[in-house]
Amino acid sequence: MRRVKQRVYTIIFWSILGLNLKTGLFAGAEEEKVTLTRHFAALGKDFGTKSKEKAKILSGPTPVLMLNDKSPGRAWQVSLGDVTFKVTIQDKVEMRAEEVLERLEKVPPAYRHMFRIVSEGEKAGVAFCADLSGAAAHGSQDYLNMVPNANAFVIVHEAGHILEQRTTSSKPETLNKWKEAIAKDKISVSAYGDGVAHEDLAEFAYIYAMCLDAGETQLGELKTLSPQRSLLWEDILQISKSSPAKRADAVTTEFYNETYRPQFHFTPKINWTNDPNGLVYYSGEYHLFFQHNPTGINWGNMTWGHAVSKDLVHWTQVDNAIDPDKLGTIFSGSAVVDWENTSGFGTADAKALVCIYTAAGGQSPESTGRPFTQCIAYSTDGRKFIKYDKNPVLGHIVGGNRDPKVIWYAPEKKWIMALFLDGDTYALFESKDLKSWTKLHDVKFPGHGECPDFFPMPVDGNKKNQKWVFTAANGDYLIGSFDGKTFNPESDVIRADYGANYYAVQTYSDVPASDGRRIQIAWMNGGKYPDMPFNQQMSFPCEMSVRTFPEGFRICRLPVREIESIYGKKHTWKDKTVKPGENLLKDVTGGLYDIQLQVDLAGAKEFGIKCRGEAVTYSAEKRMLTCLGKDAPIDAANGRITLRILLDRTCMEVFANDGKVVMTSCVLPNPENAGLELFSDGDSPKILSMTLYELKSAWVQSREDSPGSSVKE
Ligand code: FRU
Repeated sequence: MRRVKQRVYTIIFWSILGLNLKTGLFAGAEEEKVTLTRHFAALGKDFGTKSKEKAKILSGPTPVLMLNDKSPGRAWQVSLGDVTFKVTIQDKVEMRAEEVLERLEKVPPAYRHMFRIVSEGEKAGVAFCADLSGAAAHGSQDYLNMVPNANAFVIVHEAGHILEQRTTSSKPETLNKWKEAIAKDKISVSAYGDGVAHEDLAEFAYIYAMCLDAGETQLGELKTLSPQRSLLWEDILQISKSSPAKRADAVTTEFYNETYRPQFHFTPKINWTNDPNGLVYYSGEYHLFFQHNPTGINWGNMTWGHAVSKDLVHWTQVDNAIDPDKLGTIFSGSAVVDWENTSGFGTADAKALVCIYTAAGGQSPESTGRPFTQCIAYSTDGRKFIKYDKNPVLGHIVGGNRDPKVIWYAPEKKWIMALFLDGDTYALFESKDLKSWTKLHDVKFPGHGECPDFFPMPVDGNKKNQKWVFTAANGDYLIGSFDGKTFNPESDVIRADYGANYYAVQTYSDVPASDGRRIQIAWMNGGKYPDMPFNQQMSFPCEMSVRTFPEGFRICRLPVREIESIYGKKHTWKDKTVKPGENLLKDVTGGLYDIQLQVDLAGAKEFGIKCRGEAVTYSAEKRMLTCLGKDAPIDAANGRITLRILLDRTCMEVFANDGKVVMTSCVLPNPENAGLELFSDGDSPKILSMTLYELKSAWVQSREDSPGSSVKE
């Protein structure tokens, strides 16, 4: 056991964001499989309940003093077996950049921004990971690598986060926010965001420290103290003893590879998400901001989380972009590139990326009594966002007015904002500089509300024939015309999706003209993710097109072509008959699929495909496609239909007849059942053609040597 005697370490804060590191290091290392999540999940269930008393004691205005002494103090103390050691927050210590880089190279990019390095001059010894929550803790074994001479190693879950908030930033408003929220029992802090009082977190830190530093002896002790928890620590200890490559592998296979973690749909590393926000292409990256609760597994504390991707498939989550302030928590909105620098936020070297969001006044103690207003924030590097100092840019109009979607209207060199007002009413506004807005008119959208989008689209690919589309939160749309002042709907409300989980849609802004696609993402609202460190997911990005049908214009939607980047094994069939009792697909495994088929019903009444036990059924009699209890009317021209199905661990997206009918649904298939099966009612429908790709995970692809992976930078 290493001995640590009352050492005083100073804490430095390193902004790791933007460091361009390579991670080739994780290649290989497949043999050892470790399952930390298993134990975390089990633990989450029976950890203590929230206790106001404990929370108050341990969350005083000064740093938490743990274990032996619970009174507030300037120091923070941890026991390692029979030794105690103390961390005192003093001041910043600079470390040589190369040294830090060297250490960080061993850490998967997904975790890097969470680091805080603790050292005392030459005696760098303790890695203190503030701002950690449960999922990040899976990476704990890697942090050991960072500090080769470690005397001790401590992880503090969100207790550390609070500690950090209180002491280093010391912003009075932040401290007050936490204090108030805790006093009102509004915050539950835990490994997974819920149900654990601070005292448990203190214990977490203690136990980690024991395991990682003290080893087997303490583990024995722990077994008697808490048999269930000791399982987790045993795993950690086991990993901590293995080679660096194995440790790294354990991190990336565990995290983003949990039982119900979608493998090619975006989810945040941890905690809650809902609407996609600020979809914009800027400086070579697709940005996906998202409604996020940084401190909990359920909705609350709305903040703009942030992820970037070069291909809409492999995402890297970066630091949160916009935090709540006294004007409110940060509700949904959009982002644009200010090419002409109308806002003045741009610089000689960089265009400004401007986010337009709702400050939801009254949603936090800090913003009590304030209404919902529209605000802006900008960035010139796509990472750091600065709020406009004269926010809000559009004051309160009515009710919960929110979700501004802004577009550039080139003919008049001005901005247009679509905003949800109240009930079933939206409105359009115009602005020359994004900072002052004038109302144009209301837009009625019967039966719909929230999250508008508004954009032109070529009809049947003809750029000279454009129609304007106004979408509501669930993607349903009106098609019409727009002259720069007035939107004239020329259609009734048209249904966009027949599944159960398509909401808060938004399309990308500023996709280069040479590409020209209109790409939409939705929140797959309402999915269930049992025992996962995150909650909720996005739909797979789809390219939209407006096409002419006998009944009028319709928007068709199909997955973006970049899905090809995760294509694995390809299977093809041609002119095959579906006979009862014979499963053409019996040899297909893997569980993640892009299935494309063209079928001729040939007189059959019913035909379908079971995807991991869930049927997608076409009834020729009813002219209906049914999936997970939902129906969608569909035409079968000459008895033929096309189906495309994306299947991930928690969802199924069905695109029928080239995307004219789409059903987006969350599902929890049996993790053991990865198979597929075609079925019919006996009249032997014919598969004219079928192409099936097994898909690779977008999260762990770097280990398979594919370009553009999520865990590469
Ligand atoms: C839609 C929505 C938006 C709001 C956001 C808050 O899901 O209710 O109207 O801005 O979520 O998280």
